[in-house]
Amino acid sequence: MSVTILKGTVVSARSLGKLDITENGYLVAENGVITGVFPTLPEQYAGAAVEDHGSALILQSFADLHLHAPQYPMLGMGMDLPLLDWLNAYAFPTEARFADPDYARTIYRQLAHELISHGTTRVCMFSSLHTDATLILMEELEKAGVTGFVGKVNMDRNAAPGLLEETTENSKRETLRWLEACEDFRHVKPMLTPRFTPSCTDELMAFLGRLSAERGLPVQSHLSENRAEMEWVRQLHPDCKQYWETYAKYGLWNSRTIMAHCVWSDARERQAMHDAGVTVVHCADSNQNICSGVAPVRVMLNEGLKVALGSDIAGGDHLDMFDVVAAAIRASKARRVLDGWETDFLTVPEGWYLGTSAGAAYFGEKPGFTPGNTLHAMVVADDALPQPHPLTAAERLERCVYRRQGGAVRAVWSAGRKVYTAE
Ligand code: GUN
Ligand code: FE
Repeated sequence: MSVTILKGTVVSARSLGKLDITENGYLVAENGVITGVFPTLPEQYAGAAVEDHGSALILQSFADLHLHAPQYPMLGMGMDLPLLDWLNAYAFPTEARFADPDYARTIYRQLAHELISHGTTRVCMFSSLHTDATLILMEELEKAGVTGFVGKVNMDRNAAPGLLEETTENSKRETLRWLEACEDFRHVKPMLTPRFTPSCTDELMAFLGRLSAERGLPVQSHLSENRAEMEWVRQLHPDCKQYWETYAKYGLWNSRTIMAHCVWSDARERQAMHDAGVTVVHCADSNQNICSGVAPVRVMLNEGLKVALGSDIAGGDHLDMFDVVAAAIRASKARRVLDGWETDFLTVPEGWYLGTSAGAAYFGEKPGFTPGNTLHAMVVADDALPQPHPLTAAERLERCVYRRQGGAVRAVWSAGRKVYTAE
């Protein structure tokens, strides 16, 4: 049996808004599965090797539940257009480059490294429509220690000539070829990914719905991100009262479905998400960058929806989830102002929960470092920041969220394995 014992200031998000803090504590895992967080080392582990991280913070690693891998090359650029124009001007041409497997290999290796070195160990990720590049992405993630789901994107209408599956048949065939090749992966699994309703014919949506049911595959897509997008969906599906129904009618709407954005989802659409157990992924940076709006994240939580966070690179401008947590908190405050101070904002512990435990819940994990969870953790050192006077662990966590500290993540464990150590 292998035992991992990490010593430091252990902080985790036990429930929405509640932090568990153990100063000078021990986080212990046996064979990669957490057995507990202890103020003193239990007798049974006496003599076992302890990785002592001094006063550094030992935190859960992050779950980024929505990001576009093939938009990584345009990260931090081209955010001067609203969604539909932005897709045509920037996103589609960038994704078209991934027809080249060598290009894909180079970029995806960098992306996987940047994710793991920033403490992101779980993802639900969009690839491009290219089957080979998608498999390369999965290989690079697995090698780096990033776990989760990746989707080869389906898009058989309304895209750029260089980024369109030529026929519906072709899209179906490539999806099946991709799924066959996915069987060899251990920590990165396939997820069906109709890009969004305007990108997929009815025939393709129906095919994906059937495939999801037959093979038990989860689904991810976009929902009610932008007003012009929603109007387009209304024209494409006059039989559907609301956007979500275009997914529901094809069997793409259930408790394993992930919908990114949901900025403009009204009470009825939110109720439909609640009833089906759909997970909303809030992407605050992206929503601001491409002028989509400010999602009512607090209202969704109050209504009992499942909500997690996504960087949504490259609509989002950072894959650092500390930043994504801060952006979500800021967005909730903007929403409060827009709502006439009627809604609450997210506190730091709540934002932290969304970036960690809420995302991990999608993978069947209990909140925080609950015994039985797989070890997904990181060591974060804030000793490069000024130490003006003694700070509480909660204050230190807050400061990590708000202050961008390059290199603060010193070590990362994913699926029970140590996968990163800072040089
Ligand atoms: N909707 C359809 N495709 C995309 C995309 O690539 N990014 C975002 N933000 N929204 C989308
Ligand atoms: Fe997106």
